[in-house]
This record gives sequence, structure tokens and C-alpha cells, in this order.
Amino acid sequence: MAIHLGEIAPDFTQDSTSGPIHFHEWIGTSWCVLFSHPKDFTPVCTTELGTVAKLEGEFKKRNCKVIGLSVDSVADHKRWLADIHETQGHAVQFPMLGDPDRKVSTLFDMIHPKANDTFTVRSVFIIDPHKKVRLILTYPASAGRNFTEILRTLDSLQLTDKFRVATPADWKDGQDVIIVPAVTNDEAKKLFPKGFKELKPYLRVTPQPNR
Ligand code: BEZ
Repeated sequence: MAIHLGEIAPDFTQDSTSGPIHFHEWIGTSWCVLFSHPKDFTPVCTTELGTVAKLEGEFKKRNCKVIGLSVDSVADHKRWLADIHETQGHAVQFPMLGDPDRKVSTLFDMIHPKANDTFTVRSVFIIDPHKKVRLILTYPASAGRNFTEILRTLDSLQLTDKFRVATPADWKDGQDVIIVPAVTNDEAKKLFPKGFKELKPYLRVTPQPNR
């Protein structure tokens, strides 16, 4: 069944390269990025896993755990990890779920049979500490993902959970943000002491409040 934003992520227990994972318990009070790749020992996936390994410290800084998945076995993942380290220069430290029984990929609707009935697509889920699904992305097998964009979206989600703002197109941490339309100008004066510019009554920008 399809998963929608705002829903509680399915819970599961499944084996991983770090041993059995009880998903919700493993997330604990962190944020989580769960992502699938189509197949071990394939070129684009090798670059993706190396990129996430390189960025793992950035996810940690944001109190976010990362976990990968494909329909391969944990034994295959473990053999592949050496190739990722050798060719990409970064060791994968985060867990990778084995899913040969397709339990997790079915729960998260990661197999799209009209694209490929055997492999998972390139899915990404951001899940918050309340276990709510906050972002869903689906990429085709032929396009490796931009994981810096996942970090950028995580920054936006964490900021907009704290302040009554939204982030504009191509926003990056530290840049001006948008005051949500539900905030009146009188409220905005109190909430955003650095001031704001009103370009239109519905388009008001203010410096990022926590900077
Ligand atoms: C790849 O990672 O290169 C790949 C995996 C499955 C299908 C196509 C490409």
C-alpha cells in the first residue's frame, strides 16, 4: 500500500549488516533517512552508497540516522561493502537492510513492477523522531540521487518545525526564509525581530531566525 506524508512509517524487524534492526526502536529519538537502491554490485548504486558514506557525518550533525536497503541478502551487502570502500574512498558504517523476502520493500512500496518487477526503485523516506514520514522521493534506476538535496530538505524540515516559516526554491541553510501566510504582520513583528520585507501580502521574507 502507498505511504503518504504525515503517516506513521511502517515498523518492522529485519536483518542488516549491523544485525537485526527493530526499526522504530532503532530510530529512537533521531530523525531517519531510509533509502533503497536497486541492486548490489551495480555501478550507479556503488557511487550512491559511497556518497552517503562520505556524508554520514553531515547526517549525524543533524541528529539523523541513515539506513540503506535492497532486495539482496546481508551476506551480499557485506561482500559489496569492500568494493564501495575501494572505489569510492569511503567506508559504509551505517546499516544496510537485507530484504530478499521483500518484507520491507513491500511495506514501503519500493518495488514498482512496471519499472522493474525484481528490483527496488531508488526510494528515499525522511522520517522524524515521532516516526512520521516527512519526505518521499522516487528516482529511476538510471539516475543516481543528489544526497546533498536530502540534507537540504532535512535542514528545511527541522527549521520549519521550530519557526513559523517555509523555505523558498533552492534555499540553503543560512539564507532568508518565507513567513507562512497564517502569520499576521503584527505577529510577524514579534516573531521575527530582525524584521521582514513584504514583497506581496502573501510573500514576506525574513532572515533565517536561528542564525
Ligand atoms: C546501477 O546502479 O547502475 C543500476 C542498477 C540497476 C539498474 C540499472 C542501473
